[in-house]
Amino acid sequence: MDDQNFADGFPRVALAATGAAEVQADVLAVPVAAGGEPDAAVQALGETVAGFVASGEHRGRLRDRLLVPGTDGMAARRVLLYGLGARRDLDGQRLRFAHQEMVRAARGYGHRRVAVLRAGPLRDEDAGAVVEGCVAGGWDRRHRATADRQAPLDELTLVGFHGVEPGAIDLARRLGAATARAREWQNTPANEMGPQTLADIAAEMAGRLGLELEVLGPDELAAGRYALLMGVAAGSERPPRLIRLQHRGGRGGGENLALVGKGITFDSGGLSLKTADGMVRMRGDMGGAAAVLSAIEVIAAARLAVDVMAVVAATDNMPGGSAQRPGDVWASASGRTVEVLNTDAEGRLVLADAITYAIRSGATHVVDLATLTGAAVTALGHAATLAVANDDGLWTLLAAAAVTAGERVWRMPIYPDYRGLLRSETADLRNSNYGEAGAIAAGMFIGEFVEGRPWVHLDIAGSHWNENAALRDVPRGPLGTGARLCYRLAEGMAARAAG
Ligand code: BES
Ligand code: ZN
Ligand code: MN
Repeated sequence: MDDQNFADGFPRVALAATGAAEVQADVLAVPVAAGGEPDAAVQALGETVAGFVASGEHRGRLRDRLLVPGTDGMAARRVLLYGLGARRDLDGQRLRFAHQEMVRAARGYGHRRVAVLRAGPLRDEDAGAVVEGCVAGGWDRRHRATADRQAPLDELTLVGFHGVEPGAIDLARRLGAATARAREWQNTPANEMGPQTLADIAAEMAGRLGLELEVLGPDELAAGRYALLMGVAAGSERPPRLIRLQHRGGRGGGENLALVGKGITFDSGGLSLKTADGMVRMRGDMGGAAAVLSAIEVIAAARLAVDVMAVVAATDNMPGGSAQRPGDVWASASGRTVEVLNTDAEGRLVLADAITYAIRSGATHVVDLATLTGAAVTALGHAATLAVANDDGLWTLLAAAAVTAGERVWRMPIYPDYRGLLRSETADLRNSNYGEAGAIAAGMFIGEFVEGRPWVHLDIAGSHWNENAALRDVPRGPLGTGARLCYRLAEGMAARAAG
């Protein structure tokens, strides 16, 4: 990891050289599982602290927390007991969530230097999840507000994680920062985040990390016959961009993984206009782009030994006078013709052309990430990403990557019976009005463009953002979903290639 300024603005992270009593911090954070007795690490803090757990005044439920004075002889002025919930429910997503919320609470008290004790169910192998959660908890979605701003997290120290390599901590810090950056890009209002903004982000990364960069504008898109992307962009003032960042870490001539992100910087629906309520958070419709851009930054910084490209299809979807009309038919860059029955089903259109571009650029494997369908939200809510895949080998790698990343991905079936849903009266394919299995059929539409390559489609419409207050154990707001997952997948492909 050799770049200088990747993680500027994110906390310093270190493994403590001392024990819990001596660690220099504003607060010592102590994890507690629900239904557990205070373990040896908590007992060692003294009766005053352990007593809160033994007495049941702190019960260890997810998001429970109790701030108590540090005991005599402790360098930290305060101890923050925080809950991890029941052990059997504790997966990677909940583990990161608990630490994000703990850091937010500490920041609310004004603590800038947080130490986390390895106690309760935490093991050395959880150190990465702890760091990723804590670093993400340092990010603030309300930083544009001028009142009620909280102290930043300056310093994170891990206490008692004796078997952990410093390199793993450094990587986790980067992955936490990548998650936070993806959240920040999702959250950036559309008046500040357009297609060119995504191209600027890619150009900045290319310069800093030595990635190959290609950006296609309207002229190049016309020359390449990317009519599906141009059709979506037709009603917008801001011109579209098709962006590609290429990391070359492989030995050449090997696998080249394309991470293809939907980059709709605002989705009004086009002429098939959304309702006012339906448009409210459509600045986040570039969540797939945010994920692949933040992932390739870490992939490049870590110099993973595999070729990976991030491809972003960037445009607004607007109902201007030159907008495409429902019923329009276009020939895609691949040659397949598509009837646009609903201009609000724009994601699959831009992704189809972006995948053709990735294949023309040498992609051997394709993973697309997209805030694609309301049907994915209906199916899984905000707790997981919905997937379809055409290849069990790539799927197996991705499922393992999801566990390491602490992201949830659930695979849906592609039955050949569904193919009839995509049939058009006037063209090869229709883009909508499938009537059933909406998230699967949308994925199958995209799968029509992968030309036999191993492919996984990740619909993050539910998982990229949660505003459902009833889901108390799922993080709220923009979530940066897919950034860590893409990194871990590339890492898995590099390991597989090394044999
Ligand atoms: N960007 C939306 C999907 C979406 C919905 C993302 C909710 C995040 C939260 C997508 O472009 C869309 O409008 N999909 C339509 C497709 C339909 C017209 C076939 C949908 O799912 O309603
Ligand atoms: Zn959309
Ligand atoms: Mn749409």
